[in-house]
Amino acid sequence: MSVILGCLATAAILPSALASSSHLAALALQNVLDKASPIFGSYINRAPGRAEWMKAYPDDTPLVHLNIPGTHDSATWNYDQATQRSLKGITDLNQVTVPVPETFRCQDLPFIDMLDMGIRAFDLRYSFDPTNTTLVFYHGPALLSETSTVDDVLFGFYQWLDDHPSETIFLSFQHESSTAKYTSNNAELQLNLYNILVSPEARHYFLQKKDQLGALGEARGKIILLRRFDLDQLDSSYTEDLPGLHFSPSLWTDNSPDISLVYNSKKNMTAFIEDYYQPLTPTGSSAVENIKWKFNATKRHLLKATTGLEDSLFWTFASGTNTANTPPDWPRIIATGNGSDLTPEGGVNHQLVSFFEAF
Ligand SMILES: *[C@@H]1O[C@H](CO)[C@@H](O)[C@H](O)[C@H]1NC(C)=O
Ligand SMILES: *[C@@H]1O[C@H](CO)[C@@H](O)[C@H](O)[C@H]1NC(C)=O
Ligand SMILES: *[C@@H]1O[C@H](CO)[C@@H](O)[C@H](O)[C@H]1NC(C)=O
Ligand SMILES: *[C@@H]1O[C@H](CO)[C@@H](O)[C@H](O)[C@H]1NC(C)=O
Repeated sequence: MSVILGCLATAAILPSALASSSHLAALALQNVLDKASPIFGSYINRAPGRAEWMKAYPDDTPLVHLNIPGTHDSATWNYDQATQRSLKGITDLNQVTVPVPETFRCQDLPFIDMLDMGIRAFDLRYSFDPTNTTLVFYHGPALLSETSTVDDVLFGFYQWLDDHPSETIFLSFQHESSTAKYTSNNAELQLNLYNILVSPEARHYFLQKKDQLGALGEARGKIILLRRFDLDQLDSSYTEDLPGLHFSPSLWTDNSPDISLVYNSKKNMTAFIEDYYQPLTPTGSSAVENIKWKFNATKRHLLKATTGLEDSLFWTFASGTNTANTPPDWPRIIATGNGSDLTPEGGVNHQLVSFFEAF
């Protein structure tokens, strides 16, 4: 888009040319936002409401003192039977069997709605599309859209920040590894991600601060990059060139309720992470039991954050799944329960609301 503008603007400085170039720029942006819509949702600039909750906090508020609501596997909101069926032809090229959609679906609102409701942290899982051409979103082998690229979706965030310049967004990027029979987190893929994250527009919208979180003021209207990936197939200068905080997958213990991960070794800055996504209940355990285990891990981690660690970064995942169980506990069941007869106290979401209200 910036290239198109540049060409036309240098061709002539006549007012009519300027008018048509900005008209074309607006159409080009709309085109990108339309392509992003299967993941981002249809872009709407709504009245602020909760969309600008960060306005209430002064510029010198340390970001680590804020409670930032986020969504886990954010891009799965549209992954139902119809989406899975419509993507089957292209997903088949990956030569993997994709289980039922309930396995993967962790959300049910598009990004634009999440943003407008106050969500500020997004968990994004990328890999190559089945033709190894562009980076797209996956959850495991479930391809979530073939046409919305990572780059397209970023334009949705950029536009939203222009419309809500008081706000800060946290984007976590993680390479999804089990997307295809033959897939590799190789140099080509890593370079593709790097190029997206250092494009002129990314340099403008991603806060170019590294290895630490600062104050809210400098982060307003910007994105903070959370790097849950390594660029280990590229020269180390590529990693050095990226902003944000690094959470190396090699330090992120799988399915752990209590991870301590040093993200700034010079200053010994530690992030405390609860990512106990699969309760290790005995097989055949009830939905109530699985919800109880997940809620227990979530609650303990939230309480830990109040024990003299107020200046530390905490990531607490409230979502879980136990697809190994019979019957399976889908993410939706852990989050919202399985009907009032089976789970009268609801899921982790309901129990967390009561926990926060009582705090
Ligand atoms: C995509 O890349 C992988 C890893 O290099 C390779 O094995 C696979 O054949 C490629 N797929 C296509 C469709 O080119
Ligand atoms: C680094 O920080 C962690 C967590 O706050 C603490 O347990 C550890 O003792 C610190 N290490 C050093 C060398 O200061
Ligand atoms: C609750 O969580 C803690 C920390 O993860 C664990 O040690 C304990 O066994 C859990 N208790 C139950 C009942 O799940
Ligand atoms: C959820 O409820 C459905 C319908 O009652 C039932 O078939 C399924 O086994 C339940 N799942 C769990 C994990 O309890």
